[in-house]
Parts: sequence; structure tokens; C-alpha cells
Amino acid sequence: MLPASLSSLHSTNVRTSPYLSPLSSSSSLPSPSPSLSLAPSFSHLHHRRLVSFNTVRGNNPLATKAERRGLSVTCASTCEPLKVMISGAPASGKGTQCELIVQKFGLVHISTGDLLRAEVSAGSEIGNKAKEFMNAGQLVPDEIVTAMVTARLSHEDAKTKGWLLDGYPRSFAQAQSLENLKIRPDVYVVLDVPDEILIDRCVGRRLDPETGKIYHLTNFPPETEEIKARLVTRPDDTEEKVKSRLEIYKQNAKAILSTYSNITKKIDGNRPKEMVFADIESLLSQAKREKMKKTTAVKPVHERKSRSNQVSSSQDNWKGIPTRLNNIPHSREIRNYFYDDVLQATQRAVNDGRTRLKVEINIPELNPEMDVYRIGTLMELVRVIALSFADDGKRVKVCVQGSMGEGALAGMPLQLAGTRKILEFMDWGDYGAKGTFVEIGSIGANEVDEQDDMFILVAPQNAVGNCIIDDMKAMTDAAGTRPVILINPRLKDLPGSSGIMQTMGRDKRLEYAASFENCYFFRLLYYAGTQYPIMGALRMTYPNGYELYKRVDVPSGGEKYVILSTFTEKPSSDDINDAFLGKPRNREKKASGFW
Ligand code: AP5
Repeated sequence: MLPASLSSLHSTNVRTSPYLSPLSSSSSLPSPSPSLSLAPSFSHLHHRRLVSFNTVRGNNPLATKAERRGLSVTCASTCEPLKVMISGAPASGKGTQCELIVQKFGLVHISTGDLLRAEVSAGSEIGNKAKEFMNAGQLVPDEIVTAMVTARLSHEDAKTKGWLLDGYPRSFAQAQSLENLKIRPDVYVVLDVPDEILIDRCVGRRLDPETGKIYHLTNFPPETEEIKARLVTRPDDTEEKVKSRLEIYKQNAKAILSTYSNITKKIDGNRPKEMVFADIESLLSQAKREKMKKTTAVKPVHERKSRSNQVSSSQDNWKGIPTRLNNIPHSREIRNYFYDDVLQATQRAVNDGRTRLKVEINIPELNPEMDVYRIGTLMELVRVIALSFADDGKRVKVCVQGSMGEGALAGMPLQLAGTRKILEFMDWGDYGAKGTFVEIGSIGANEVDEQDDMFILVAPQNAVGNCIIDDMKAMTDAAGTRPVILINPRLKDLPGSSGIMQTMGRDKRLEYAASFENCYFFRLLYYAGTQYPIMGALRMTYPNGYELYKRVDVPSGGEKYVILSTFTEKPSSDDINDAFLGKPRNREKKASGFW
């Protein structure tokens, strides 16, 4: 954030640049209306926060592994540059993160707060108008701010390098102004910080008028006495004004979010700034890769008709649950039915930005508790999912846990023994997907590479005396906001005599396991203690609720599944029993013995 005194350094430029002149003839933006004529030219302002951050990429400690190795994916002129909005309550750390983002991604930083403070300090017409609103902790009128932003966005550097919009839009009307001009970001980052922390951050914030660097009296104290002596406080950083700014932020946040809901990424901003940045970095790197892939699509995979397109077109044609599910081996039709069902739900969840997902499917061939369990069916399912995302240009890492004990197979759940080898040797199609878009790995933080877009974890599970959750946690932490999909996880405790399962604490383990949401659930229901005949099925596909079906015999000799009830949350066994018995919901009840 820029202290008022700094903008005097630029005041000559502010005054001499003609208003609205930056709109070039090639601009895709329509000319601003006359009512926006207050907008200044401020090409001189946007490097302010960069003063002390010019680094040589090769030595840049923030450069990714891949970049340091020279493997960085950089957008050539053919690739449209990245467009990012960052939002969050006052003092959520937008300015702090913007410094790091600009340093790493080279975007043009446009901060409405900085622009306005510069105008105030220059004593310009805009500044004089804006001052009273800012000092009162209120929003400056839309037409002033919108004109500033649209003019700045039309500059050539923003068009070629991409932009990082900080503090705009701040109201629904501002968001709509951008929508009307067809200005839309690739990612809308929201920093999430609890209120009480925000107030402390504002009150303790200090700014260096010489470098523009943001400090905090306790969190980020100045490096030297000399810097300390020249620090200034923002006039709107009193507790009372922060509370008013916070209130205004909350009133507007929801409406703005509705405009960007499909590209919104919420980030926990109440962590050390390096950790916050790590998440943002991974998010923006991914967005950048997606853009790259769109312009430089790799032919062999992309020339194929995308499986996800195929399935989404068939999404509305769901024909109900297939019959003869107790016939083993399952027919190809039945297997394909379930692969597609899982795939559609998973695709929808990932497309909606969900990142911690699990698929639980317990048809007999996929139920390790039944002796008809077939590892091949699990592998086929994994392959279908991985290839479908690869078809969409994503780099998918398929991971199987390795041995968790001493020796080759010690601590390896029986169900998974040999799985990795099978995956390695499987037929991944003639399109070169494996090795380019699909990689096989194990579970752990070391497996998370910069280029990976998402991770599929094959049946991660605890073994007696060994807990997989630590490795999974490390891996998901490293994956950041990239999707991690668990296929048939079994994360219940299996304590051994060594007590090794006590790692992390039971509550923490359960909490971690619960942090994955079901994007697909299918379970056959049997009468308690039996595995024949099938009583019914419970099915859930993202984003829908749980559907409870009853299997009924039909007079012609066949069978069918009829829907009995639906639930927004996963029903308990009591709920299921009651639905089968035709009892009303929400009463006190006891389990009556089904499944
Ligand atoms: P603006 O300057 O945008 O203010 P703001 O949104 O209230 O945000 P801040 O600058 O206060 O905080 P920040 O999120 O950048 O946090 P920072 O990184 O500095 O706008 C000011 C005014 O201009 C508005 O009130 C309004 O009047 C007007 N205005 C602006 N845009 C407008 C628009 N579109 N429409 C209408 N009016 C508009 O960090 C804060 C402190 O926390 C620092 O001390 C920092 O060191 C510390 N900190 C940062 N990160 C961390 C961390 N991870 N852990 C601990 N401390 C941290």
C-alpha cells in the first residue's frame, strides 16, 4: 500500500498525462462514457510496490523448481496473459500478496487503493473528491473508481503482461461494469481472515514512504532503525475506521462473489505470508498452464473426442441402476455404466472447483470384503478417470501407496500388493497419454511436482500398525488447491499392538479423512448378515443428494430398482431402515437390523 507522501514523487506525471488517453485504437474496450472523464492516466503508478523486488529469475528464491531448471512454462505471445483479481477484507493481506505475485508472475498490479491515495496526495480533482470518502472508511463513488480502473486496464502493458486487480470490484455495480465491458479474470482469489486478526493487522500496519513496502509493528517489523524512523500510518487505519471498512466489505462481498462464483478460489489468509503465497502461486501456475494448454493443445490427446464431453452429453440420459449386480464377473455393460457414472460426477465436482474429493463405490467387484473382488475393475475405473481428465489437457498423477513398513511388502495392504506394477504395465491407449499426461507415482509430498494438475489416489488405506494419513496429509498440503481424488479410500483406524496408529491423534485423523467430500457414492444394501439377495442401493452423484433405491422383483422374472427416498446428507442405517419400513422421518428410533 502506498503512503500518501509517496505519490508526490509522481504528481508531475499525473498532471501532465491527458485523461483517458491510454485507450488505444486496438483496445477491445469501448470508449468510456463522458461521465467517466475524471479518470487520470497513471501508467507511472503501477510499479510502486515493486521498488525493492526486482530479481533476476534464475536467482529468484521464489522461482519454482521447474523454473530454476529452465522448464518454466512461459506464455509466448500466442498465449493470452493471465488476468487475476484479488479480494478480501481490509488488511487481509492483498497488498502483501500482490508484491509476491507481481514478483513471480510479472503481472501489472492495479490497486485502486494505491491509485486513489496517489490522487489524494497529488491534490488532484479526483483526489479531493475521494479523500473524504476514504478518510471516513467509506467507498469512493463507483464512477470515479471504475473510470480509473478501465483506463488503466486498457494500457498496452496490462494487455501484454496480464493484470492483477487489487481492491476492485468492491461492489456489485463495479463488478457489473467490468462484465459489461467483457473484462473477466481467469481467477478470483479471496483471502479469508477472521475479523479480530484484521483489526490488529490494520492498527499495526506501517508503510515505508521510500520503498512502498508494507510492515507490521509486530508481524513484520522494519529491518533497520533508519527505516523504522520514516514509517508512516495510513489515516484510515484506526480501529473505528477499520470496523466501518470491514462492515462495508461484508455488505458487498456476497454480491460480488455471485458474479465470479465459478472462478472463485478462497485461500486461508490467516497463515504466514509465505504459506499463503504458496497456495496462490500454485493456483496461478495452474491457471497459467490451463491457458497455455488451450493455445498450444497437444494434438495426440486432444484430437480424440473428449470423454468428459461424451459423458456430459449423456448426463441427462441416466437409465437407472443396472440389474443383475450379483452376477459375477460383472458384464462389460455394468462396468461401463459405473465408470461413466463415477466419471460424470467427478468431472462435475472438479469443474466446480472442488479439490478434496472421494469416490466410494461398493459393487461386488469393487468391494474388497467380498471374495469376488477384482483388482482389474478398480484399475479400469482409475484408468477411465485419469484418461478423461488427460483428454481435457490436465496432467494427472495416479498414486498408489508404497510399503509402509520395513521390507518390500511389509506394511502393504494386501489389496494393493502389486497394484503399482499393474498400473505401470496397463494399456493406457495408443495416444501417448502415459508419460505425458498421466504419470504413476506413490503417495507422499515428494510426488507432487509443479507440472501436476491433479492427483488420483488409488484406494489409500491404513494397514494394521501403519497409518497412511500422515503421508496423505503431506501430499495434500503440497498439492495446495489442485484436486486430489481418493478412489475407495479406507481410512478407518486399524491399530496395531505398537500403537502406531496414534500418530496425529485420532481426532485429527478423523478430521482429515472427513475433509474429503463424496463426489460419488454407491453401495449395495443387503439384509443384515447376508450378501444375497440385494435389498437395494444407495447412490449419490455430485452435486445431488443421496438416493435410496429398493430392488424389486418383476413378474416377468427380472428385477428393477425403484426410488424410495432422497436425503441431502448421507443417511444413517436407521434412516435407511425407516425408509424401507415406510416410517416417517425424524423420529426417535432404534436400529432394526437391516444392513
Ligand atoms: P485499499 O487500499 O484497497 O484498502 P483495503 O481493501 O481496506 O485493504 P488494505 O490496504 O487495508 O489491506 P490489504 O488487504 O492490502 O492488506 P496488507 O497487505 O496491507 O482501499 C483503501 C480505501 O480506498 C477504501 O477504504 C476505499 O475508501 C477506497 N477504495 C479502494 N478501492 C475502491 C473501490 N473499488 N471502490 C470504492 N472505493 C475504493 O496487510 C495489512 C497488514 O497485515 C500489514 O501490516 C501486513 O504487514 C500484515 N500482514 C499481511 N499479510 C499477513 C500475514 N499473512 N500474516 C500476518 N500479517 C500480515
